[in-house]
Amino acid sequence: SGGKLWGGRFGDRRIVDQVMERFNSSISYDKRLCYVDILGSKAYAAGLFKAGLVDQVECADICNALAAIEDEWRNETFVIHPSDEDIHSANERRLKELIGTTGGKLHTGRSRNDQVATDLRLWLRQEIDQSMDKFLVQIIQVLIERAQDEMDILLPGYTHLQRAQPIRWSHYLCSYAWSLWSDVERLIQLRDRVNVMPLGSGALAGSPFSIDRLYLSDLLGFDNITPNSLLAVGDRDFVVEFLSWASILSSHLGRLAQDLTGSSLMPQKRNPDGLELIRAKAGRIFGHMAGFSMILKGLPSTYNKDLQEDKEALFDVVDNLYDVLQVAAGILSTLKVDKERTLGALSSDMLATDLAYHLVRKGVAFREAHTIVGKAVSMAEDQKKEISELSLQDLQTISSAFDSSVKSIWNYENSVEQYQVAGGTSRRAIQKQIDDLKTLLELR
Ligand code: ARG
Repeated sequence: SGGKLWGGRFGDRRIVDQVMERFNSSISYDKRLCYVDILGSKAYAAGLFKAGLVDQVECADICNALAAIEDEWRNETFVIHPSDEDIHSANERRLKELIGTTGGKLHTGRSRNDQVATDLRLWLRQEIDQSMDKFLVQIIQVLIERAQDEMDILLPGYTHLQRAQPIRWSHYLCSYAWSLWSDVERLIQLRDRVNVMPLGSGALAGSPFSIDRLYLSDLLGFDNITPNSLLAVGDRDFVVEFLSWASILSSHLGRLAQDLTGSSLMPQKRNPDGLELIRAKAGRIFGHMAGFSMILKGLPSTYNKDLQEDKEALFDVVDNLYDVLQVAAGILSTLKVDKERTLGALSSDMLATDLAYHLVRKGVAFREAHTIVGKAVSMAEDQKKEISELSLQDLQTISSAFDSSVKSIWNYENSVEQYQVAGGTSRRAIQKQIDDLKTLLELR
């Protein structure tokens, strides 16, 4: 009807403004920073008092009003205004409503740039300390408890998706306990880099007032202060590092889930939905890591609004990881292993390696032993037998090194018990792994 292509809806300035407001705003998701934002502001008020920028009464008024705002968030009576762009502007707007111009002093020398970086670090540190470490350690404990209790269960160990050698179920469980332990170590290490305080960096150049940053850092439980204001406001390496950590952890759990969905361990009647979702979340978490890294790549120095996108990535990863860790712990603690069935999945051809080592012990060179065993495997195939069913006479036609002691090889329990080496699948070697893991968990 002759109207301009881009007229209509976008011809109306108010609509453009509305879209832009929503586009720019982060309050819908960053309101979960409300408590750390208030925590940071209380400390900052104390810092302003120490610097002589507010008097004692003003400081007390600010802190009391902040406590009142905190209650509003807690009681869900805080009213978000359409013009509240983010949690920082919302809390400050409310503060000014409650105590007027005194409230306007709180932001002296501060910028949302150093504020948001501080808040996010505080938030992540709390999640690590209060929940992440606990959920992660809990799942390791489930793994090692089961490893201790179910040492008798034997099952095939796989290579290239093929059943290869008998192992203890406990050895398998410990392999994941060790992966997850490495995640605990990494979490402890990255926490050090999260727990550094940007506050006092202002918009980008620092603070022109005599704000005691070390004092603020102590009040807020930071280990240290950031060394450069330009970097402090633009640095989200701690987010990327956490997302990378989460990706590694989720890939460990995804592999575990994959093993279990594909395994005869799973009672086939039940849908492995939980396991499949654990596997899928790894993809989602890697996606956030890659996505946020792409935002950082090529950004100019200091704060850019692009950084606002750190939060949805981080929150989604943290929330999903909590679920994944708890569901995985639940599955692992309730999963029933059918001992007979796992034993039934073993066959004597998985002892071919042991047969070769048997010959090695009798002085045959390993490569030669390997060839001999290869011949025995084909002979069994030709005779449509299991390798253990070959007669001694038949074996002796392949090599004179065989004698009646060969019978001792055809026993799965004996097989796993040979693997006494540190890190092996014998009972003793597994016990050592369990004891070491327990010690590491206690000392962490
Ligand atoms: N909501 C912003 C964020 O999450 C806070 C910082 C805004 N600073 C600014 N200069 N626009 O990153």
